[in-house]
Amino acid sequence: MSASTPTAAPGRKTRILTGITTSGTPHLGNYVGAIRPAVAASRAPDAESYYFLADLHALIKVQTPERVQRSTLEIAATWLACGLDPDKVWFYRQSDIPEISELTWLLTCVAGKGILNRAHAYKAAVDKNRLDGEDDDAGITAGLFMYPVLMAADILIFGADKVPVGRDQVQHIEMARDFGQRFNHLYGQYFTLPEAVIDEQVATLPGLDGRKMSKSYDNTIPLFSPRATLQKLIASIVTDSKAPGEPKDVDNSNVFQLYQAFASVEETAAFRREFEHGIGWGDAKQRLFERIDAEVAPLRERYEALIAEPQKIEKLLREGAQRLRAQHATPLLRKLHEAVGLRDLAQVASERKATGKQSAAVAQFKQYRENDGRFYFKLVDAGGRLLLQSAGHASARDAGQLIARLKQGAGAGIASEGARELRFDGVSLGELVEDATIDDVVTALAGFAEDAA
Ligand code: TRP
Repeated sequence: MSASTPTAAPGRKTRILTGITTSGTPHLGNYVGAIRPAVAASRAPDAESYYFLADLHALIKVQTPERVQRSTLEIAATWLACGLDPDKVWFYRQSDIPEISELTWLLTCVAGKGILNRAHAYKAAVDKNRLDGEDDDAGITAGLFMYPVLMAADILIFGADKVPVGRDQVQHIEMARDFGQRFNHLYGQYFTLPEAVIDEQVATLPGLDGRKMSKSYDNTIPLFSPRATLQKLIASIVTDSKAPGEPKDVDNSNVFQLYQAFASVEETAAFRREFEHGIGWGDAKQRLFERIDAEVAPLRERYEALIAEPQKIEKLLREGAQRLRAQHATPLLRKLHEAVGLRDLAQVASERKATGKQSAAVAQFKQYRENDGRFYFKLVDAGGRLLLQSAGHASARDAGQLIARLKQGAGAGIASEGARELRFDGVSLGELVEDATIDDVVTALAGFAEDAA
């Protein structure tokens, strides 16, 4: 990445942003791996935290309206029940901030399609199609393809400095940086480039069958299942067939791993000794159930109270979004409109007060054909000054390929020949225009490398 990464303005608190896709019911794995640590982090005094329900993202996966609605309610209630304090953090719903969708389009127009082609989730879907002998893009929506751009808008719109994510999401943060950087390069410094924060400590819990607890394996224990259901589910965890009295292997036990995620160091050590002394699986599971329920029961009570009054949650989310729009999103989009040229037509360009850069920040090649039937190009610098007039080429393709190589070379391989002639990689390139110098040309070409970075 570029060395001149814009970072948070001095004096402002670090902004930490977390998005939660509303496409399921929270389970113990989500609680231990994401919710519990995130709520703890939200209490840090030196941070300004943003938590939002990514319901627009949910539409990519879930196309049953009732499930989208239900999941949004459940997830909102879960975070609140687990201690997220909407007076201390920004808590909102993505679809309540239409500026996010609007920014998605502005970013779409600078996002490289080739970068999106390389997104893991999209590539996995293509690979699966190939394996199944299907057309590459069979069943793949443009929504899945554009997922990273929407996510970049989520992050960039509020100037997030840090985004805590799992490993699988790191690529998305890199893309957000890339799109933000391209936009900044073209239009001026509007966006802070975010950093992914990966918590290596975060536990992944085993599910009922021992594989990672995940909705896609259908092996989850819902966080807020009723007490009796929780007990039944825990009793169904797969174990080996060692009888009571036989020592049990803690390191390969799902029951033990789950217990550890909820227990203190001392409790865990005591449980380990019981395993060595041959505790029966029935007893071990009962102990596990009691330990989990001790932590979850008070949260469950709050959750049930919250779920019973959805209008309160609705109001809270709307108010969060309204304040955020007024303070951040609406003014930012106004500036961005101005930056890209979606402007008041009655306002004359020369009267416009400087907001960001006035002209495109990159040099440009302009291709054309002359009366002699040959193909030419000109190089114009970022300020619009004509620098170079090319030699003639037999075809548009020849000229285009030379331009592509010049951009890739980013200024390397250019040499003077005589006072005004330039060569590139041994071939004649063209002639400097007026008082332009070889240095001007090299500088202009170097801009293409930054642009592609
Ligand atoms: N893609 C994230 C996930 O599946 C959810 C998400 C959407 C998100 N927008 C975000 C996370 C912005 C962080 C920042 O987990």
